[in-house]
Amino acid sequence: MGRNLARNFARHGVAVAVHNRSAGRTRALVEEFGHEGVFVPAESPEEFVAALERPRRLIIMVQAGAATDAVVEEFAPLLEPGDMIVDGGNAHFADTRRREAALRARGIHFVGTGISGGEEGALHGPSIMVGGSEESYSLLGPLFEAISARVDGEPCAAHIGTDGAGHFVKMVHNGIEYADMQLIAEAYDLLRQVAGYTPAEIAGVFRRWNEGRLGSYLIEITAEVLAHIDPATGAPFVDIVADAAGQKGTGRWTVQTALDLASPVTAVAQATFARAASGQSELRAAYRGLPGGTTPQLSRTEAERFTSQVEQALYASKVVAYDQGWTMIQDAAAEYGWKIDLGSVARIWRGGCIIRASFLDRIRAAYAADQDLVSLLGEMEFAMEITDAQVPWRETVASAARRGIPVPAISAALAHYDTLRADRLPAALLQGQRDYFGAHTYRRTDRPGTFHTHWAAAGRPETSE
Ligand code: 6PG
Repeated sequence: MGRNLARNFARHGVAVAVHNRSAGRTRALVEEFGHEGVFVPAESPEEFVAALERPRRLIIMVQAGAATDAVVEEFAPLLEPGDMIVDGGNAHFADTRRREAALRARGIHFVGTGISGGEEGALHGPSIMVGGSEESYSLLGPLFEAISARVDGEPCAAHIGTDGAGHFVKMVHNGIEYADMQLIAEAYDLLRQVAGYTPAEIAGVFRRWNEGRLGSYLIEITAEVLAHIDPATGAPFVDIVADAAGQKGTGRWTVQTALDLASPVTAVAQATFARAASGQSELRAAYRGLPGGTTPQLSRTEAERFTSQVEQALYASKVVAYDQGWTMIQDAAAEYGWKIDLGSVARIWRGGCIIRASFLDRIRAAYAADQDLVSLLGEMEFAMEITDAQVPWRETVASAARRGIPVPAISAALAHYDTLRADRLPAALLQGQRDYFGAHTYRRTDRPGTFHTHWAAAGRPETSE
């Protein structure tokens, strides 16, 4: 990915000094792609630093964690105040905050930067979420904006906020990516098991959906994966792949962080747990074959009706999942003192990144119209769409439950919606339970103050303030 990023800069007329721990790799890059622009190969860190114009702008692309610390420690002593180290890897935002504070004390800008779009994106135009100081962005921004994806002439790169804000928002991007992928996978499973469609037929359904409001990179590639036939067996590719999902950890980070922030990203959590559950082979073997629901065969007309019902459920769940992501960003901004322009997050996710989707343009517009929007559902058009989706969304979850088909992310999104729209929640009862066994106190609806009830008072509880 670092190599492709360097090539992208070079193709945009930026002279790039390149260094890899292995001198052979540095030479190979220049030999293979030297014709694309100006590369200055450097064999040692000293040679690399000496090749940079001042203030120096170093971009490091190494594994998150100890490897990043090691590289930072290798280069920082060679730098001068005002120089910048950009970490373009998928680092944990808390590490970025720590590194930023440590290097700030030495006069060096540490700029944690989330870059989405994989290797191809890095070469042809990624989405770039930049953290660090405003000052560093004034020198780095034009470079990032030049190499990023563009949508409607606007770059998909922006300064998100100080210190770890860029990496935080990239982490939430990945959390949303997990939710979106799981929602799509559940929709596929329903179309396969309930509507009885083949993978090729479902590929056609996704291609159609991709033309509408669900239009997105993830829907597009889903159609391609479903249409793919395994050359070795002639079977649909999706049927020969082991059904245990991997993860590198950014979804898990999102959920762990959400727990700390008390931010209810339930669709991301369910998506992350669904990956974990898929890999629990012993547990799955123990449960396999236990009774579930029934799957009556649908007629062709019923299957078509069911398909449009699933589209509504998928769309409504997707809006809720994205809304959860935005809520988490708002919660983090309040916690860490970041001033994040929520509309610009949507703007830079419209292109280059994995979750790029046409409806991000509407999210951008919703925040542009109202900077203080608390939830996407506070915007008229989204609210109307969710209203329209009510019956099919609920029917989809009900059909899945009746037939014993797991739809954890779609159900979680619906439950989240129902939680937030409820007049009263059973949380009141939880407060009573907590007060009973732990004297944890509660607040009342009829007057201010903190109360405790003496539950054990001989069967006649007494309340005190
Ligand atoms: C991106 C991707 C990228 C990667 C993740 C997810 O934005 O370019 O999110 O960061 O695909 O690492 O990978 P896992 O599914 O393995 O966690």
